[in-house]
Amino acid sequence: MDRLLITGGVPLEGTVWVSGAKNAALPLIAASLLTDRPVELDQVPELVDVTSMLRLVQRIGTSATHVGGAPGRIRLHTPELLSHEAPYDLVRKMRASVLVLGPLLARAGRARVSLPGGCAIGPRPIDLHLKGLERMGARIELVDGYVEARAPEGLRGAEIEFPQPSVGATENLMMAATLARGSSRIVGAAREPEIVDLSLLLRSMGARIEGAGTSVIEIEGVARLDGARHSIMPDRIEAGTYAMAAAITGGRLEVRNAPLELLGAAREKLVEAGVELVETADGFLARRANGILEGVDVMTRPYPGFATDLQAQFMALMSVARGAAMVTETIFENRFMHVPELVRLGARITVHGGSALVRGVERLKGAPVMATDLRASVSLVLAALAAEGRTEINRIYHLDRGYEHLEKKLAAVGARIERVP
Ligand code: UD1
Repeated sequence: MDRLLITGGVPLEGTVWVSGAKNAALPLIAASLLTDRPVELDQVPELVDVTSMLRLVQRIGTSATHVGGAPGRIRLHTPELLSHEAPYDLVRKMRASVLVLGPLLARAGRARVSLPGGCAIGPRPIDLHLKGLERMGARIELVDGYVEARAPEGLRGAEIEFPQPSVGATENLMMAATLARGSSRIVGAAREPEIVDLSLLLRSMGARIEGAGTSVIEIEGVARLDGARHSIMPDRIEAGTYAMAAAITGGRLEVRNAPLELLGAAREKLVEAGVELVETADGFLARRANGILEGVDVMTRPYPGFATDLQAQFMALMSVARGAAMVTETIFENRFMHVPELVRLGARITVHGGSALVRGVERLKGAPVMATDLRASVSLVLAALAAEGRTEINRIYHLDRGYEHLEKKLAAVGARIERVP
């Protein structure tokens, strides 16, 4: 298994290009199952999760081809559905596989999708996806660890109210509703920008959707959807991570292909912590405003609140800030697995339930550490970039799931980072 060797202490300087968003790419690929016409996506990031999603739709009957030699342009075409199943081995590796449930049910009236089960950051149920589809007339049974869903007469529009916003459930139901009979309303919908991106693709396929990006989404079902072409939005989590890489190393990065407002609440928190963010034509410049980082409390919230996917990185940043910071996780249980690893690097962090108290230290020190999940892994990379001496990060396959060419991008701005098999 590959490891990363990082020798810290080098301020990063230069330009980083942000890739297309993983969390937009995955639902967009699933959405291509809704039509028998070709769907072309641009800025598809080269990531293990994207490969897994492509493999899944290919099993279902999609031909996926790179277009015009451009690495990030993919043409997806599903003339007919050859299977209705997302098998355990794929869903286990990537929960977002459940996003094929809505499209399959809408187009074919049936789907069989493995239950995702537990994952490293908590139980992560899919009850909201299933209840919503039942409201739309699907009959759902749980058989041998699989969700078996049927709607032989097709789905019908419905009013669905979520007790709490769920990104995946909002996406699944929005896709399902595009081909349902009549109109649907999703109340309490998640408002993440990736949902807006999905609605843009669906609308250019001919879907009738209003309100994506707000907590009430209205969808008027249509009989069929057409092909379309769409460019995937930039990855806001990657952009935020590079802003923090500049700040934690005391360097200066120009982050391109990333509008500053995409950072949401992380933008204000970074500024409060002493990070200067200056808007540029296609992104922003990030560096410390006056050399010192200040401890700032954050609490993760659904968008536009502080993203749970930036929590681990922010904690790494706070571990070298002046003063203390309280980092509270409200979206996922058990999303503090990076804490013991950051502590191995010299951070002073104590966890009390869903909150972690970070007391800033002057310097972190390199050590061998282990990556546990995607965002935790990259927080260790950030800490290692700031640490004195060498850090060895094991189990980095998590990073390949979500950060395109991470070590190349970092090396290009001066990081001493090397991947060893
Ligand atoms: C998506 C993102 C993930 C991010 C998360 C929260 C993708 C591919 N992944 O995950 O990177 O961390 O949003 O921003 O876009 N819940 C239920 N029942 C359900 C569904 C969710 O109780 O049926 C709960 C979850 O356990 C969690 C909360 O709702 O506590 C939010 O989860 P959700 O927004 O669904 O996350 P994902 O879509 O899985």
